Amino acid sequence: MRVLVIGSGGREHALVWKLAQSPGTDVFAAPGNPGMAGIATCLQLKGAGVAQLLAAAETIDADLTVVGPEVPLVAGVVDAFRAAGRRIVGPNREAAQLEGSKVFSKNFLVQRNIPTAAFVTVENETDARKAIGRFGFPVVLKADGLAAGKGVVVAEDRAQAEEALGRLRGRMVIEEFLRGEEVSFIALCDGRDVVPLAATQDHKAVFDGDRGPNTGGMGAYCDAAILSDRQAEDILNHVIYPTVEATGFTGFLYAGMMMTVDGPKVLEFNVRLGDPETQPLMHRMSCDFLPALMAAAEGRLGGTRLEWRTGPSVCVVMASAGYPGSYDTGKAIGGIADAEALGAVVFHAGTRLGAHGLETAGGRVLGVTAGGDNLAAAIGHAYQGVEAIHFDGAHFRGDIGRKGLERHKEPIQS
Ligand code: AMP
Ligand code: GLY
Repeated sequence: MRVLVIGSGGREHALVWKLAQSPGTDVFAAPGNPGMAGIATCLQLKGAGVAQLLAAAETIDADLTVVGPEVPLVAGVVDAFRAAGRRIVGPNREAAQLEGSKVFSKNFLVQRNIPTAAFVTVENETDARKAIGRFGFPVVLKADGLAAGKGVVVAEDRAQAEEALGRLRGRMVIEEFLRGEEVSFIALCDGRDVVPLAATQDHKAVFDGDRGPNTGGMGAYCDAAILSDRQAEDILNHVIYPTVEATGFTGFLYAGMMMTVDGPKVLEFNVRLGDPETQPLMHRMSCDFLPALMAAAEGRLGGTRLEWRTGPSVCVVMASAGYPGSYDTGKAIGGIADAEALGAVVFHAGTRLGAHGLETAGGRVLGVTAGGDNLAAAIGHAYQGVEAIHFDGAHFRGDIGRKGLERHKEPIQS
């Protein structure tokens, strides 16, 4: 069986790592990254378009393709693969609009009566200025299109909101600020049936205590205690099933949820696995993932279940100095083997092989992932791995999973 994973980040390394454990499977990645050496064949692409991705799948005659990032999905990679008769896990171009346009997804949520923050859509800065105060402060401003997790600004007051308007520009959503704990709820869908993955929690802000600008995600953990069965049922019934029913969604539907005192509300949809959520998800999954992916691609997910280890998994992202703003690359990375010797799994996100060996090549560089019998142990193991690794200017949050520790002391009611 030949499986192709599209993408080059930490999420894709985690997928490749998991699929390489499936019996009788050859894993390929397009374009992949240096962390995959030894477990997958990385295919150089002749360009970044849908046609080049299809050509890569045809070259190796892939039995199944799994798409990591959103950009090829929004560009219609799934439509192109299906037209060519190739199995692929992902939504078609139309359903990818749930992530590709905030305006589209907010209108969809309202039409389907799916709980979400109150909002208005504005077309320009003048209208945005008028709407800013409408929901009080803090207020949330979201650029309409794809922005790699950086198109959202939470403004504490009017001055911050007006300052953000200069940067976001164009069409945007202005919405009510929701309070509560964030949960990433991801389900594998085949157009009709749905298999939920375990719940995860991301850490979007760059600094400890959720301070500083939003990033693509500075760390995530996967733990059975994040959601009660009843909360998970609630999200399935009120968010996931209605969305799949309305759109015939295929692939990974990611609902970014805020667990508010009035119940779970959708912050955003993504149409793919989360990054870094996938790192602890793949680490904690105890069953073979390939049969579920194959069933999803063939529209026969019904009855599929995924198994998870009891203990949690934690991923801490090590980033370049300056991220999510501008940063330098080309810093030598050391200590990965030491982290692995301590039991951590080190997923590469932004690395390359340079003149001096492995070096930094992106904002998020590594996702250091580990498990344990309980959350405190898993967090400890992940940070032991982090401490073993060094590159110039490396920065990471010191509090990944801490909210979970607090939750163990004080269970949230459902
Ligand atoms: P989004 O890309 O829409 O998920 O927004 C990125 C991050 O901004 C979310 O993960 C939240 O941390 C924060 N955020 C977005 N919308 C809201 C909201 N309505 N209330 C509070 N925080 C929000
Ligand atoms: N970690 C959030 C995302 O993948 O969008």
